[in-house]
Parts: sequence; C-alpha cells; structure tokens
Amino acid sequence: MEEALKLDKKYPETLKDEFNIPTFKSMGISSDNSPVTYLCGNSLGLMPRSTRDSIIAELDAWSNCAVESHFCHPKESEGKTPWVNIDLPILPLLAPIVGAQENEVAAMNSLTTNLNSLLVTFYKPTEKRFKILFEKGSFPSDYYAFYNQCKIHGISEPENVLIQVEPRKGETYIKTQDILHIIEENQDKLALVCLPGVQYYTGQYFDIGRITSFAHQFLGILVGWDLAHAVGNVPLQLHDWGVDFACWCSYKYLNSGPGAIGGLFVHSKHTTPDPTKEHLPRLAGWWGNDASKRFQMLENFEPIPGALGFRQSNPSVIDTVALKSSLEIFAKFDGISEVRKRSLLLTNYMVELLEASKYYKHPLKMEKLPHFFTLLTPTAKDEDHGAQLSLYFDSDTGEEGIMSKVFQYLHDHGVIGDARRPNVIRLAPAPLYNTFADVYNAVNALNQAMNKL
Ligand SMILES: Cc1ncc(COP(=O)(O)O)c(C=O)c1O
Repeated sequence: MEEALKLDKKYPETLKDEFNIPTFKSMGISSDNSPVTYLCGNSLGLMPRSTRDSIIAELDAWSNCAVESHFCHPKESEGKTPWVNIDLPILPLLAPIVGAQENEVAAMNSLTTNLNSLLVTFYKPTEKRFKILFEKGSFPSDYYAFYNQCKIHGISEPENVLIQVEPRKGETYIKTQDILHIIEENQDKLALVCLPGVQYYTGQYFDIGRITSFAHQFLGILVGWDLAHAVGNVPLQLHDWGVDFACWCSYKYLNSGPGAIGGLFVHSKHTTPDPTKEHLPRLAGWWGNDASKRFQMLENFEPIPGALGFRQSNPSVIDTVALKSSLEIFAKFDGISEVRKRSLLLTNYMVELLEASKYYKHPLKMEKLPHFFTLLTPTAKDEDHGAQLSLYFDSDTGEEGIMSKVFQYLHDHGVIGDARRPNVIRLAPAPLYNTFADVYNAVNALNQAMNKL
C-alpha cells in the first residue's frame, strides 16, 4: 500500500471529488460509510456530482415553463440552452474526444440504433462486393445488426457473407496482421470492415488507423468502428484516420448515466455542405432536416450538412444535459490525451501487481496450479490496451466456479468489477476517479480471495 500512496502523491491529478462514489453502505454491503473501490467504469461510469443539478434545472424548466422552454429556456441567462438546440453545445466537447471535426459528430439515439442506422447508409452490398468483416465473439448486438442487415438486403444465408476474424489457436487476442491478411484475401468481395475500437471482453485496443488505411487501399471497402469501449478511454483520431463512420454509447467511460444518449461520427468526405448536391440515403427524420425549415413541416428533406443530418428525433433533454456535465469534466482534465496518460499509469500499475501475484499464471508457465488467473488483455505494449484488464480464472486440478467465488469475495470487500461468466472478471481503473490506492486494494483483495479458495 505504501507504494500506491506514494504514487497517489506523485500523480495526484484525479478529479474524484467531481464524482459520487458509492459507499459500502449505499451499496448494501455493510454499514460502513467509506467509499467502495469502483473499477467498473467500463460498464457504467460513476455519476458526476454536477449531473444532478443539470438534470434538476431541466426538470424545473419543464415544470415552470413547459413547452415554451423549447425556444426560450427560463435559465438562458445562466447559460442554459433552449431545448430545440440542447445537443449543440455538446459538439465542441465531444469532437476532440473522438478526434473529429465538429460537423462530423452528433449526440443521438443509443449505440445499437446508431449502428443499425449507419449500416443502412454504408452497407450497400452488390453482386461483386457484399462481405462484412468483423470479429468472432463480438458484442451480440453487433452480430445481430450485421446478420439482419444481410437479411434486409435479401441475403438468405448471412453466414456466407459474414467473415469473423478470431485469435489464433491458444491466443487470447487478434493479431493486426491477421486482420490485414483477411482484408487482402477478400479485397474483391468485402463491402465493409466493422470492428470494435476496444474489444469488450478482452480489452484489446485495435490499431484503428492502420486497419482503416489498409482496407481503404482497396477501392470500395468502407470501414466503421463500434467505439463503445474506446470513447473516453483512449484518444481517437477518426477524421485523420479517414474512418468512414463510427458509433458509441456514453454510459461507460463518458459517465453519462445508464442508457445515456449515444453518439455517431460520419466522416466529412461522405457529407456535403452543398444542399443542391445528392446526399447519402439514410434513415431520416425531422431533426436531421435543415433547422431553419424544420417547423415549416415541408415534404422536402434537406439534411443538415454533416453528422447532425443523421439525427431522426429530437433528443432527450435530460440525457443530453447529463452527457454535457460529464464532458465538461473531460475538458477540465485538459482533454483525452491527459486522461490517457493517467489511465496508462493506473492500468500498468495494476498489471505489475497482478503479474507479481503468486496466482498469476503466465501463458508460457508450465507448472500446474490448483487455481490461478491469467490476463486475456494484451499488455506488452501500451497501444494494445485501454483502461480495462480482463482476468481469466481457472484451475489445473478440475476445481470449478473459481471466478464466481473470487467475484463474490471482491464484492463483499467493496471491490466492484464485473463478471463475464463463467471465467472472466473485468476491472477498469477509470483515470478520472480511480487512484493507485484503488488499484492496490483491488489486487490485494483478489489475492486474499484466491488464498481463501
Ligand atoms: C461493444 C458493444 N456494442 C454494443 C453494445 C450495446 O449497447 P446499447 O445497448 O447501448 O445499444 C454494447 C453495450 O455494452 C457494447 O459494449
């Protein structure tokens, strides 16, 4: 613990006081009022303290001025935005987090909805070019979306169209060269490459720039990214990398609350500021239409140039202000590059402590252990991982249920991670609110749990 406390002194730049950290008592673990060790920001980020006030201000506006708040917010003089434009102040905060121009991003819908609507625009199978490359073991929503897009296009056996890249036998994560190899092999048939920025199960951070530019050398292949686990976690350069489209949720590292409003990116090369030019077909709605004509209720769709033209509905005001109060914390921290610096210090410290555990089994270690854990996440290089580490629990002696026992012990000792049954626990130090002491506590509790088995 001494070393962790020293590190907390050396790198004190946490904004944890900006967040509500649950306590043993509030989580029903014990009557202790001390904060738990929350390492689950990869699933649901903690609530910024400012979120409550920003939501209450909108409830007040609704309660006091109702419909008139759409155009004239009662607290406009205090910096509040009329609801008709509620999502616009988000754009300058969001664009730097994903490395986009402001006109390339929109806060809208939720992740799967955005993925589906982007696929409607960008997946245009032809007789020659129709395959989709993604990963084996993808988040199920993504699989369902790709599979059903094929069905919508009349492809009776999507299995023949979907190519799933996977780790080599005995390995836990996917080699970039294997992805590039599959792209090259299928260069004439691929319509789309769509991968996760950071893989939800293993925590692998994909080489987005390299994969995107490699695929783009073959004319006709488009590249999209599901950034659920990457946004707010690792710095992104979507514009410079030439990514065609991307989408994300904001309830993980963006700390915007359960089911919060999602986001999407459409590269400016696919949109045009000239309203007389042909625009990309899309799932359309009035909120994507030219704002100056929106309330004329015309049968004429002239999309707003850029990502905002992909919006369909008016956004949830409450969701949107929750996202804003969280993005302001990123700005306070000097942006995502600074967040990432701290993130690497914390996660690499956790790797160091885990690898020092007598229960840690290196993949090449041959001796048999009654129970052990190993890391699924690639950790040799910083650029291969984000904040999250995925721990795989097992035994060489046939003992079962190790992960569940460890997970329960961690919970009972106030270490909150998440379980992917039957074998995996994911732990993610979130740089905005976690400390080196949190990391130490978690690994210490894990070792104690293993001692007790
Ligand atoms: C990689 C990935 N894709 C898709 C989803 C689905 O998100 P939503 O329920 O917000 O559509 C998640 C949710 O955690 C996810 O992690």
